Amino acid sequence: MVNVTDAARAILARNDRGGYTVPTDGLYPFQWNWDSAFVSMGFATFDIDRAYQELERFIQGQWNNGMFPHIIFHVPSDSYFPGPDVWQTEQCHSKKPMTSGITQPPVFGIALRFLYEAVLVTGRHDMLERTHTLFNAALRSHRWWLKARDPDKRGLVAILHPWESGSDNSPAWDEALARVPTTTKTEICRQDTKHVNATMRPRNIDYQRFTHLVEVYRECQWDPIKQWSHAPFKIADVQMTAILARATADLIWMASQLNLSDALEELFTMHQLLINGLNSRWNQHIRGFVSLDLISGKDIEKPTQTCFIPLIALELDSYQRKSIQEEIERWCQGMVIGIPTTAPFSPDFESKRYWRGPVWAVINWLIADGLRKNQLKELAAIIEGNTISVIERAGFCEYFDPITGEGLGGNTFSWTAAAYLVLRRRLTGD
Ligand code: DGY
Repeated sequence: MVNVTDAARAILARNDRGGYTVPTDGLYPFQWNWDSAFVSMGFATFDIDRAYQELERFIQGQWNNGMFPHIIFHVPSDSYFPGPDVWQTEQCHSKKPMTSGITQPPVFGIALRFLYEAVLVTGRHDMLERTHTLFNAALRSHRWWLKARDPDKRGLVAILHPWESGSDNSPAWDEALARVPTTTKTEICRQDTKHVNATMRPRNIDYQRFTHLVEVYRECQWDPIKQWSHAPFKIADVQMTAILARATADLIWMASQLNLSDALEELFTMHQLLINGLNSRWNQHIRGFVSLDLISGKDIEKPTQTCFIPLIALELDSYQRKSIQEEIERWCQGMVIGIPTTAPFSPDFESKRYWRGPVWAVINWLIADGLRKNQLKELAAIIEGNTISVIERAGFCEYFDPITGEGLGGNTFSWTAAAYLVLRRRLTGD
């Protein structure tokens, strides 16, 4: 019988394109921002050099203004839409590789700490310069986040495109996205539905709006100030803010390890601002945290996984802890595998459609981390154990149907393999 840990490592080897990893062959043929950060942590469980390389290849795409783009197009491929010809971002970075024009959740700082902790365990002393380079890139990107995406200093960073959230077609964005026109100048040549059944992917009308938004920002020449004032979609997102806040805390840890006292003060200020912002988003009715639509001014009360992600950054009070624990248990009742990314009792729930219900291993990983941080270790271990079991039963799929446990979306997925390696080590020590 094939050892599943070996199989997970083999997926990472198979998706390795020479120092960076594609999420999966065909469907996603380039380097993706948050995918790569998770993948680097998977590599760190068995090959620390390769783990560092993953982040080093990624920062080659960093923009002059500090932004980490969501896709790095290291080599051409026609199996994905929209490619570099649609984004047209050449002026934003001085050299190749080509990149997209939006960003994704800043898991990078979390990954960097994870990697550096692994370095400390091995006692290697030759990684300092590489660590400094990655730290400086991360710090520049956090500065970009605060300046470009929280100009009003709310302590909440905004997404200007659903793709930035990583949860593209989540019901959380429905109302805001419905205001975005469906007209496009670009011919939409969807490639994703050639790889994956269309019922598991966003709809065509979603792609029209996604593409319309790309065109608006391209016309702003990707200038953050112009984008901010022209954006037809602008959401202060608690998932993004929580990941940034947690990554900032991890950079604080890094700065103290590396004796970088100048950076420390700046990072403390950033962190406090984000923590205050997140704390202001608790919602009693939802029993979680809610994002804010900056155009309508309305709270987004859709029950999606975003409501739980702030656990990774915050220390909850006992009432919040109990509420979140009960809510997660309620969402998982009757499911073969939790945590669904949309509550099953919601009218928006679709068990097979991408971010409208399916379970994602990396989301379970983040939520379990948050539960551990908040002394809910038993529930964390259940979620981690279930994630491992569903992967062992269904394979390294992109996501899973919570009702049946069936594997969905792309196969041989890198971040599912990485989640397996990290969570299994956490639970069993191997
Ligand atoms: C896609 O193309 O499906 C991605 O989620 C956008 O990054």
